[in-house]
Amino acid sequence: MLRNTSSGYGRIAIAFHWTMAVLIVGMLAFGLYMTTLPPTAAETFQLYQLHKSVGFVVLTLAVFRLGWRLVNPSPKLPEGMHPLEKLAAHLGHAGLYALIFAMPITGWFMASASPWGIPTVLFNVQPVPHLPVPDALGTKEQAEAFFKILHKYGAFLLIALVVVHVAAALKHHFIARDDTLKRMVSTAPAKGDS
Ligand code: HEM
Repeated sequence: MLRNTSSGYGRIAIAFHWTMAVLIVGMLAFGLYMTTLPPTAAETFQLYQLHKSVGFVVLTLAVFRLGWRLVNPSPKLPEGMHPLEKLAAHLGHAGLYALIFAMPITGWFMASASPWGIPTVLFNVQPVPHLPVPDALGTKEQAEAFFKILHKYGAFLLIALVVVHVAAALKHHFIARDDTLKRMVSTAPAKGDS
């Protein structure tokens, strides 16, 4: 059953959440690791290609997830939360959504702007076209450097938001002792549901 009542998430929303959580945390660690490798090594090239491929999987999932969420609104936040806490939670979630789109898109622009003109081939099978890079960004080197900065600081911001997100989920579970985390793990009816 695709449960999505006012107090719970459905199976699809839960599957999107955890699949994307694993992929995004993995991509953050993978991205930081691969940039420490010797840039001209063949293995580095393969790892960059894998990073780009998984990034497109994240972008595709993000599109479907947002579409799903628009049709199946998320359950309300717990009643006992302070209005400022609720505002912070909504802003945090909006920031996470923005960054799961911004990370792949800035990465795609970075690869498109690169003076090396390296093609992106998804999982070594499906070529992806380069995006048109605005002339206003200057030479290819300048445009690539611009998107590299966005991608890098976007990653740092995403790491910060993920840390706060996880801390908030744990606070709900262990301190407030409400169903916020449980309902993102299971579709079983929460306490007080009829
Ligand atoms: C969820 C999606 C993504 C995440 C979380 C992510 C994360 C990261 C991180 C953390 C880095 C290291 C940043 C640094 O220290 O400079 C990185 C580097 C990089 N990413 Fe991504 N990335 C994503 C998607 C993509 C996509 C879709 C592409 C290209 C199509 C891409 C291309 C690159 C490239 C080329 C680098 C290396 C930059 C350099 O050489 O300094 N990324 N990414």
